[in-house]
Amino acid sequence: MDIKISPSMLASDFANLEAELKKCENAGAELIHLDVMDGHFVPNITIGAPVIKALKSVCGVPFDVHLMISEPLKYIEDFAEAGADIISFHIESESDTRKTIDKIIACGCRAALAVKPNTDIDAVYPFLDKLSMVLVMTVEPGFGGQSFMENMMPKIRRLRKDCPDLDIQVDGGINAETVKVCAEAGANVFVAGSAVFKSENPAETISLLKRNARGI
Ligand code: DX5
Ligand code: ZN
Repeated sequence: MDIKISPSMLASDFANLEAELKKCENAGAELIHLDVMDGHFVPNITIGAPVIKALKSVCGVPFDVHLMISEPLKYIEDFAEAGADIISFHIESESDTRKTIDKIIACGCRAALAVKPNTDIDAVYPFLDKLSMVLVMTVEPGFGGQSFMENMMPKIRRLRKDCPDLDIQVDGGINAETVKVCAEAGANVFVAGSAVFKSENPAETISLLKRNARGI
């Protein structure tokens, strides 16, 4: 499986987003992770489609947009038009899961389904035929900088066993050590916020995450 690192801009310097994106681009990040929160699905509010559109105009790395919002279906077109390449939404949201996946694909994006820590991985199985990626949360969604939940690994192991070619993403508390645990379980797409942007050298941290994920 291809290893992909997706730095989460949530932990970046919001006063210098273009420079922060360039750091990721120059360091060879495969994706850029953008966390959208509505203050309803999660108790925090972040950015929306207009900001993502502006960022897209200065960055050539594909955008991995993680919607933590109650009604994703209503906003798929906006995020697709803003330049999202992958759109993840939560199976626990209020929107119809199949309709939302179909809408993402109809808008020309790749669809991903995210599961919160308390959601059984079985919940994604009926939708696997149309999904490009499954996002297994390794913290409760809502905030950066939380501790990694190692007890999510059985979900990843099971999904990897059943889907050898699926992109399996982990998000929350990923650093140079926990990336190894997730890779060993079968994850291949790694979101990292604090680990990258609170590091003295984000570019070096991105390559370290990659090496550790590959086990070299
Ligand atoms: C949390 C977000 C994450 C967050 C991860 O709800 O989905 O993407 O930015 O941050 P770290 O890597 O600091 O745990
Ligand atoms: Zn995220």
